[in-house]
Amino acid sequence: MTESKRTVITIFVVLFSTAVCVSLLIFFFGRSESTHGENHTSSAYVVTVSTNPLDIKDGRTIMEKSKCFSCHSINGAGGTIAPSLNGVRYRKTPEMISQWIKSPGSIKPGTAMPQYPFSDEQIAKIVSYLETVDSLHTH
Ligand code: HEC
Repeated sequence: MTESKRTVITIFVVLFSTAVCVSLLIFFFGRSESTHGENHTSSAYVVTVSTNPLDIKDGRTIMEKSKCFSCHSINGAGGTIAPSLNGVRYRKTPEMISQWIKSPGSIKPGTAMPQYPFSDEQIAKIVSYLETVDSLHTH
């Protein structure tokens, strides 16, 4: 009887420690997962560049409505206080361009470029449009 009680207690202790170990694993695994998630939305943000003409057209329309061209120009039309966006695709990766649009101040604190409340989908459309805009050859 005492022997079997001891066995029951041993089994209980083993099960309990296993449960504690599993919880700790889940805790740390969960933590590293969530850290990964944060990175994903900030620096390691991946943009899906669309080649669908409708998305590209939407990107252009969003830029017109958002007054991007009061500062930037494309093909000579637009403002001059910001760099021309002709050929920005050769200077920056789609991720960098989207980061500029998402949060200009995080790249250049104090920049004149405003932060827009765009959705990721809108940003992806703008980036898809900018990926079609080549360098301007003026000669
Ligand atoms: C008030 C002026 C202003 C508006 C409006 C503006 N920007 Fe900008 N933007 C800037 C300036 C200035 C820079 C250059 C950063 C700097 O030197 O401060 C810049 C930089 C950029 C860059 C990086 C360009 C490069 O060659 O490095 C991109 C891309 C960009 N803007 C896209 C946009 C888009 C898209 C919009 C509209 C949704 C927009 N900007 C609206 C002022 C503006």
